[in-house]
Amino acid sequence: MANVAVVGTQWGDEGKGKVVDLLTARSDMVVRFQGGNNAGHTLVVDGKQFIFHIIPSGILYENKKCLIGNGLVVDPEVLLEEIDNLKVAGIFVGPERLSLSEKAHIIMPYHKAIDLARETAKGKAKLGTTGRGIGPCYEDKAARTGVRAVDLLDPEGLEEKVKANLKEKNFLLERFFGAETLEAGPIVDSYLSMGEKLAPFITDVSVELDQAVKARKRILFEGAQGTHLDLDHGTYPFVTSSNPVAGGACAGAGIGPKQLHHVVGIVKAYTTRVGAGPFVTELTDETGDYIQARGKEFGATTGRRRRCGWLDLVVVRDSARLNGLDSLAITKLDVLTGLDRLKVCVGYEIEGEKVEQRPTSLRRMAACTPIYKEMPGWQEDISAARDLTQLPEAARAYIETIEEVSGVPASIVSVGPGREETIVVKHPGIEEFRNSGIQEC
Ligand code: IMP
Repeated sequence: MANVAVVGTQWGDEGKGKVVDLLTARSDMVVRFQGGNNAGHTLVVDGKQFIFHIIPSGILYENKKCLIGNGLVVDPEVLLEEIDNLKVAGIFVGPERLSLSEKAHIIMPYHKAIDLARETAKGKAKLGTTGRGIGPCYEDKAARTGVRAVDLLDPEGLEEKVKANLKEKNFLLERFFGAETLEAGPIVDSYLSMGEKLAPFITDVSVELDQAVKARKRILFEGAQGTHLDLDHGTYPFVTSSNPVAGGACAGAGIGPKQLHHVVGIVKAYTTRVGAGPFVTELTDETGDYIQARGKEFGATTGRRRRCGWLDLVVVRDSARLNGLDSLAITKLDVLTGLDRLKVCVGYEIEGEKVEQRPTSLRRMAACTPIYKEMPGWQEDISAARDLTQLPEAARAYIETIEEVSGVPASIVSVGPGREETIVVKHPGIEEFRNSGIQEC
């Protein structure tokens, strides 16, 4: 496999975990490039359940190196907990298995306090954040007041930064939000102690990736969230604070764009969203409940019930453009089994006019009605299909519609939660691999 980036094409929760797991088997390294512990996925291996928020799930494979890029915001407590949980399960994670970029920003207690206080203050107008301090941490990064992983190794520097930050944050917390203030001393002590534990992992991830590229290693870039939660290109302001688009992999891992050979877009066979924001194809009826229940659509991080709706291909087509998608991985197709009729949104209508792209103005987006293509459903269990020809005709037609409207071919179709319940149409990156001279897997 060549170097592949995996990105979500919708609002996150597309089932990236399973596809990443599949592609990890054909890679040497897995690197995350944005987000933080707002992401999360659960994997069950040999009967043991693992929930990952920061560490790439590739850590479950021996001999795969996992890297946490500079583009992430990292809560050290959560990271250490993940390392400890792995140890309990018999997986020892040392620096030969895991690296943390010295440039990654660190989520501090005041980030979480501000995230929660701000959401509470907004009341009904809240964004529905995950409450993990993600936004406030990225704000400090842009304000150039952030604490980076490297600072956890510098007691004097850390104390100075925390004290300077708290002057402003405590004012905001107490005077604006009416929330509790925080003290510098205990924060500095606990973050220095966590820094000591994390020290062996803290390194220059960009240099490590460069060495891997030169050694012709195969790198998988694992995106979190989805394109329409992108800070620049998503449904702003109902977005996250990072860039989940494929271009984010360059800045967030410290590599050049030519190192990305193939971009896979994950498309869930229907649409979901957590948190607030417009959702043109949302179903608030029995069909929505059917999809929600069959798809077990609850957030892995917050446990919130996800809003469900028909597949919105306007959203997916936008993602094809924004990410330069080479192929699609269609997930959770089996969830739609049992529905008589299916609808896919192929365009929007607003004030009698047809719209091909998602409007930037959310007011306009909220006024859009979906233009649906109606299709027959299928009743057969499709989880045993390992080839497109083994799918019912209606399921094949559904896939073809996705390919046609998005203009991107499907490389993978997932027909059940199990690793083996997958149709690989063509391994992502195989063509690029053949032309690259990268070592065989
Ligand atoms: P934040 O990333 O916690 O600041 O939340 C901002 C928005 O992104 C909210 O609507 C969240 O629900 C959404 N969000 C963040 N991470 C994920 C994810 O992994 N899946 C789906 N939605 C997410």
